[in-house]
Amino acid sequence: MCETYLPIIVILSLLPLTYADLSSDKKALLDFAAAVPHGPKLKWGNNNGNTSICTSWVGIKCTSDGTRVITVRLPAVGLTGPIPPNTLGELDALRVLSLRSNYLNGSLPNDLLSLPSLRSLFLQHNNFTSNIPAFFPHHLHILDLSFNSFTGSIPSNIQYLTRLTRLYLQNNSLSGAIPDVTFLKLKHMNISYNKLKGSIPFSLQTFPNSSFLGNPSLCGLPLRPCSKKKITLWAIVAFAIVGGVAVILLVVIFVFCCLRKVGTDETRVQIRKPNPTGGRGDKPRAEYGGGVVENDENKLVFFEGSCYNFDLEDLLRASAEVIGKGSFGTTYKAVMGGLTTVVVKRLNQVVVNKKDFEQQMEVIERVGQHQNVVPLRAFFYSEDEKLLVYDYYAAGSLMALLHGADRIPFDWETRVKIAVGTARGIAHIHSTGGPTFTHGNIKSSNILIDQDMDGCVTDTGLVPIMNSLPAPSSSQSLGYRAPELFENQNYSQKSDVYSFGVLLLELLTGKQPIQSPVRGHMVDLPRWVQSVVREEWTSEVFDDELMRFHNIEEEMMQMLQIGLGCVVRVPENRPAMYEVVGMMEQVRIRSPSD
Ligand SMILES: *[C@@H]1O[C@H](CO)[C@@H](O)[C@H](O)[C@H]1NC(C)=O
Ligand SMILES: *[C@@H]1O[C@H](CO)[C@@H](O)[C@H](O)[C@H]1NC(C)=O
Ligand SMILES: *[C@@H]1O[C@H](CO)[C@@H](O)[C@H](O)[C@H]1NC(C)=O
Ligand SMILES: *[C@@H]1O[C@H](CO)[C@@H](O)[C@H](O)[C@H]1NC(C)=O
Ligand SMILES: *[C@@H]1O[C@H](CO)[C@@H](O)[C@H](O)[C@H]1NC(C)=O
Ligand SMILES: *[C@@H]1O[C@H](CO)[C@@H](O)[C@H](O)[C@H]1NC(C)=O
Repeated sequence: MCETYLPIIVILSLLPLTYADLSSDKKALLDFAAAVPHGPKLKWGNNNGNTSICTSWVGIKCTSDGTRVITVRLPAVGLTGPIPPNTLGELDALRVLSLRSNYLNGSLPNDLLSLPSLRSLFLQHNNFTSNIPAFFPHHLHILDLSFNSFTGSIPSNIQYLTRLTRLYLQNNSLSGAIPDVTFLKLKHMNISYNKLKGSIPFSLQTFPNSSFLGNPSLCGLPLRPCSKKKITLWAIVAFAIVGGVAVILLVVIFVFCCLRKVGTDETRVQIRKPNPTGGRGDKPRAEYGGGVVENDENKLVFFEGSCYNFDLEDLLRASAEVIGKGSFGTTYKAVMGGLTTVVVKRLNQVVVNKKDFEQQMEVIERVGQHQNVVPLRAFFYSEDEKLLVYDYYAAGSLMALLHGADRIPFDWETRVKIAVGTARGIAHIHSTGGPTFTHGNIKSSNILIDQDMDGCVTDTGLVPIMNSLPAPSSSQSLGYRAPELFENQNYSQKSDVYSFGVLLLELLTGKQPIQSPVRGHMVDLPRWVQSVVREEWTSEVFDDELMRFHNIEEEMMQMLQIGLGCVVRVPENRPAMYEVVGMMEQVRIRSPSD
């Protein structure tokens, strides 16, 4: 859309400049050469009687029709002193300017910094001493100011250089914090050997540590974590004792669970008929066959590769047990013939017709082909009843693992595995579903744990067929919702990233996404973590259970930073899901577990 009116602006901006031509370019170059002392290599002028600056002048290139100068490359020709205004800054068709490896000093003239067409500016290895200018040509792709003596801080205006792919500022005297900016296209960056301090902004953490070397006061990924507080020996000893107690508790819980399991089996019920008044207080009565009428139109549709061998009749006859009531409907565990166990989700409030429903099922099946996504095995659609059939995960959900009533403590390795697995699952959903495809409901109860203790994302792709966004079924699920969704319903993949960030913080802190009210205010997890980190009580943030493991502080700290990066307020400033995966994998590589 923007592209359609851009050319008009370009034409308008060129209109007053139509008088500029090759002769004005030539004058600007001659003025430059006259004002700036230089070595013998630079011989501009009427050499050999050939006056075409486009063909015979060192370092000059013109447009193909020879009407304007577009490139000036004068590396190592002994240019000395400042660049005077009204010289190179007059070359308003210039695209590339290279003056590297000279003795230029002082500051950069304003006209040079507003050349409308400039794409590449190479000024490395000179003696510039000024502050870095606050404004650069807007379309700059490459900016190299390295190996000078630039001072001051990196101006935050640099964020308006949205097309920047390379930024080199190493070996200067830059100070202050790095502004929190996000460059969408930046591929190479180096700010080594300056005097920068503070934390590395999230958006730059994907660059290697060699991009940040030689700034002793800089911290955060990919360098050392920013925390100052160390976990005390006392805490480690205390948690070791708690750990011992936990083992005893674990045994007790285990025995208790086994006893309960026997009881549960007996309360299972077989159902065929709807019973809308289902008994309260008792074990919830399980029923999902109410509106099912099988005929040629309405069939249980299996996806290819499904290893199940049952039909609708079997499914309806199965003994079923309610295992969850979520925002999209009720979920049952169904056991057929005492052997095959599946999960049946009974959707309420489906708003699309059969054709759209079936299309979405195809998409869900396609994005489900990943070890970290719970695959959809079959579906059923009729006027009154919509059922989805998934695999059953005996280990339950992350929610139960973290906050369940009879939970057992679980260690750092497992938490990281689940976090990375979940991130991979979401990244896969985003990449295979297309740029507008979202999960829409990432939360710990939608992360199932497989037999390898890996995290698997379930409930994928249901948002588009349901009545807009899921109504938050509890304040718990409200805690995962990105701030932009409270203002509009603009759900994007970055909203999933936010929800994942909350989930990661939940894994690290062991706390629910919404805390119980503090002095009457509900506090959400991201804000609570941010406030603790700000007060530099960082180690207090982590789940007490994790404190008895050794040598994981650094890794926890880095994961915490990734989590905080995902929950920043502005969606554009959040990393993409595949970037989150990359960063988490980096943490793992950098600190092999002992
Ligand atoms: C002068 O420039 C023309 C192209 O404009 C080129 O063909 C010619 O060889 C040049 N003459 C000399 C003496 O450099
Ligand atoms: C720039 O370099 C010239 C020549 O080396 C020197 O005389 C002048 O003082 C320098 N100016 C600045 C601002 O450093
Ligand atoms: C200018 O820079 C060169 C290296 O690029 C350095 O050797 C020289 O000392 C610098 N001169 C001044 C006046 O800073
Ligand atoms: C860049 O700065 C570092 C640290 O001062 C120094 O070791 C290195 O030699 C510098 N590189 C150049 C080419 O001046
Ligand atoms: C930088 O990272 C590499 C591996 O990615 C590691 O070997 C090296 O020790 C790191 N250097 C610093 C200064 O952190
Ligand atoms: C950044 O610059 C420093 C100093 O010149 C160099 O040692 C380092 O390898 C560079 N890193 C990258 C990623 O270019």
